[in-house]
Amino acid sequence: MELSSLTSLKGKITVPGDKSISHRAIMFGAIAKGTTEITHFLNGADCLSTIGCFRQMGIAIEEEEGRVLVHGKGLYGLKMPSDTLNVGNSGTTTRLISGILAGQNFESKLSGDESLNSRPMKRIMEPLNFMGANVSSIMRNNCAPLYISPGSLHGIHYHSKVASAQVKSAILLAGLYARGETSVTEPSLSRNHTELMLKEFGAPVHSAFELDGTKATASIHPCEELYAQKISVPGDISSAAYFIAAGLIVPDSEILIQNVGINSTRAGILRVCEDMGGDITLLHERKTGGEPVADILVRTSNLHGTTIEGAIIPTLIDEIPIIAVMAAAAEGDTVIRDAAELKVKETDRIETVTDNLSAMGCDITPTDDGMIIHGGNPLHGTNIHTLLDHRIAMAFSIAALIAKGHTKILDSHCVDVSYPTFYDTFEELL
Ligand code: S3P
Repeated sequence: MELSSLTSLKGKITVPGDKSISHRAIMFGAIAKGTTEITHFLNGADCLSTIGCFRQMGIAIEEEEGRVLVHGKGLYGLKMPSDTLNVGNSGTTTRLISGILAGQNFESKLSGDESLNSRPMKRIMEPLNFMGANVSSIMRNNCAPLYISPGSLHGIHYHSKVASAQVKSAILLAGLYARGETSVTEPSLSRNHTELMLKEFGAPVHSAFELDGTKATASIHPCEELYAQKISVPGDISSAAYFIAAGLIVPDSEILIQNVGINSTRAGILRVCEDMGGDITLLHERKTGGEPVADILVRTSNLHGTTIEGAIIPTLIDEIPIIAVMAAAAEGDTVIRDAAELKVKETDRIETVTDNLSAMGCDITPTDDGMIIHGGNPLHGTNIHTLLDHRIAMAFSIAALIAKGHTKILDSHCVDVSYPTFYDTFEELL
């Protein structure tokens, strides 16, 4: 994809359904009794990997125009897959499904693409095995492919070193199949879609957290069954983030992004935009299926640098590449700390962000747990090496809109992972 600078972006758009919520709707629907109906489901490659895995385990899933139907077979209705489960590029599929597979009385194997098979899995293997599961790394490198065989699970209280919703969710899902209570304490609250949605499906889930955002505990008890739900998936704030940034940094812009999920465990980017002086207004705030939603109005603004650290980090972890692009366009310094998790995403995002932003002329220094961006240097077009990371492709497509000359996004098709229609949404704003 080749892009160059724009003088204005105007219009009203919607973004695809939330990736985290779409994954969970399929998974919980598959292990619930009855038919779960999902509207505004994200048809991205990651969520299609989740659908594929459950089909491999005998769950009928119908993809219709505008909705997905999951014909769940109850907590013990999955059948043993005849082949290795293909989790593609999706960390969420891998880690959450492992929690479910740990509780089944059949063997399974799962494997993904090269990036997925190099991401750390010890973070789920360890707690699941403490619970009595048998999850092992086939290559003995603590990565997928994973082999999971039946175990007898019991509840544990796990203190996670990282604030990770994938780790928390894997443990809570295994807790559905364990004797007694299972709980997870994380250093700060990560996205809580699992807790909210499992409750809707009828699971006894409880959440408690310190008001300052430090330490959060979620717990679950086993139950007889989960029950099918109707789920309307809100627009993904992680996808909206690209157009929020575009609206702020492209001159003479005004963009209304409709129906975006603004759950506070996901909406850190809105606080950061405000701290940077961004003109953002939330309109028509409401709730859809237990999740807060709003329309977001964004107008061109003069941004200035900020510091992003501590408990806010898990609430914007996927948005750091696009925040770095905004910081490059802002006056002054932006410091991002406590974000070492960036190193274990689809790529090492400290490296992919700093390499590509410096190639565009930005003064940026990588650190062990983040980066320091000296904003205000004019950007120029170049070749962007996405290394097949969807969030790098989209963040740098926005950077291209304020860069002099042409920017080429290499392997831009990787946007399919979370936002297959990303470049079509662009067209709507021209
Ligand atoms: C996700 C959690 C986050 C996020 C990922 C989706 C989820 O990962 O980066 O894109 O749906 O639970 P971690 O839990 O590893 O931080």
